[in-house]
Amino acid sequence: MRVLSGIQPSGSLHLGNYFGMMQKMIDYQEHEELFCFIANYHAQTSLSDGKALARGTLEAAANFLALGMDPDKSTFWVQSDVPEVQELAWILSNFTPMGLLERCHSYKDKITKGIAANHGLFAYPVLMSADILMFQSNKVPIGKDQKQHVEVARDIAIKFNNEYGDIFTIPEPEIDDEVATVPGLDGQKMSKSYGNTIDFFAEDKVLRKQIMRIVTAPIDVEEPKDPDVCNVYKIFRLFMTEEQDQALRQRYRAGGLAFGHVKQELFETVRDYFAPHTEKRRELLADPDAIRNILAQGAQKARHAAAKTLRKVRKKTGLIY
Ligand code: ADP
Ligand code: TRP
Repeated sequence: MRVLSGIQPSGSLHLGNYFGMMQKMIDYQEHEELFCFIANYHAQTSLSDGKALARGTLEAAANFLALGMDPDKSTFWVQSDVPEVQELAWILSNFTPMGLLERCHSYKDKITKGIAANHGLFAYPVLMSADILMFQSNKVPIGKDQKQHVEVARDIAIKFNNEYGDIFTIPEPEIDDEVATVPGLDGQKMSKSYGNTIDFFAEDKVLRKQIMRIVTAPIDVEEPKDPDVCNVYKIFRLFMTEEQDQALRQRYRAGGLAFGHVKQELFETVRDYFAPHTEKRRELLADPDAIRNILAQGAQKARHAAAKTLRKVRKKTGLIY
């Protein structure tokens, strides 16, 4: 089965990104045909600083590679290195009713917030459809907010196939309800926009400071505590085996547990868990040309797959004469 997803390059990473999305994507490469790309064209709808986008793209690639994305097992590339998707997006535009795009929540939300509408924002789901359909993807793992965009891709594919025959695979969105929302320092969803994140690639000092800021209840050390209402526990358990989990629960219930100590243990656990990846990331970023090389090879693989679809599409639509 072919699994595809795109990720916008977006600043520093937190535990929510890792446990909610990246770890799952990286696991897919072991048992499915994984296509994963950095959606830099899409990022242009919200970022006009060219230097920031270029830097963010390299960093996003380094992050994935450092965390275990294996370019030999997957196809991993930067969206704009396969410009064929732009041609497909244009062709698909002609099968995209205005109403379909006008109904898209993410577009409507932005307009409501007063963000000036432009064509890029409006056509965003068509480009995303081209990403998905170009690679004949069966499954598209995404967050809830992107579900409607995969539905747009399905609608467009069905319309196109009705006219020309079975050209595109109809994709299925995959929204994993099992991946629980990772809570932040204050117990709300961990998110950049709430400033409640634990940034696992940050320096030790910063990481420790963030973990020490986790909000806990004012309960005496001696008192027994309920782990299930504790923000430190909820984050800590992401790193634990079943046995370790039971042992920590026991310590909570027994009384005599100081939150400061558990936070220190959590800090050491997060630091040690990511240490090899942090080191790998540092090495990768010290040699950006090596990253560019890996991405260029990924783009070559992706272009090969894209060419197959595009040849059929061009032929059917009369662009080959
Ligand atoms: P943020 O909310 O920090 O801006 P993004 O929207 O950039 O994060 O998230 C990128 C991906 O990371 C999302 O598609 C989502 O699957 C995952 N993600 C982000 N925060 C969390 C969280 N707290 N719990 C689980 N998954 C998350
Ligand atoms: N729009 C997606 C997001 O912001 C990123 C994306 C672009 C994507 N193209 C895609 C995701 C194709 C899945 C499939 O998260």
